[in-house]
Amino acid sequence: MLGKYVPSVTFRTRVRDETIEGPNPFRWEDKTSDDYFKGKKVVLFSLPGAFTPTCSTYQLPDFEKLFADFQAQGTDEIYCISVNDAFVMNAWAKAQGIENVKVLPDGSGEFTRKMGMLVAKDNLGFGMRSWRYGAIVNDGLVEQWFEEEGFSDNCETDPYGVSSPQNILEHLRAGQTAAA
Ligand code: BEZ
Repeated sequence: MLGKYVPSVTFRTRVRDETIEGPNPFRWEDKTSDDYFKGKKVVLFSLPGAFTPTCSTYQLPDFEKLFADFQAQGTDEIYCISVNDAFVMNAWAKAQGIENVKVLPDGSGEFTRKMGMLVAKDNLGFGMRSWRYGAIVNDGLVEQWFEEEGFSDNCETDPYGVSSPQNILEHLRAGQTAAA
């Protein structure tokens, strides 16, 4: 995806709406790729599933903690994407106390598939999910790419390192234009 534009898709998000009464004051809100990426420098990271151990213990909380450091490098937003629906993504962000990172629900896997990152995880009963990767996306253009090694269906391991916030931040600080 290095040097290409992120795909144009519609994300089906759930947002809080105080005008709705009752115990579940949320409504659907469609957001497009343009809404998220146009005119912004974004760190995007994608992972196999909300609530999974590495994602919950390291990747998401570490991006959250390092948000100010990413801002200092010119990052406007950090987005976490997973092939999970909006209910799951919102519940995960709430459970993790996330305030800085924005979670993007790719429940249908369309964005992930068009990024070329959709893999089978049937070995874990997950179905189709995202391979773990990160990217620096500037006005929709993928400028840096951080893909974990071993892209494959039903992978027995879960490589994590290249797409860690620490590694991506190091590359941003070094001003490098490509990474692996
Ligand atoms: C993890 O984040 O640790 C994980 C991700 C996918 C499957 C199993 C574990």
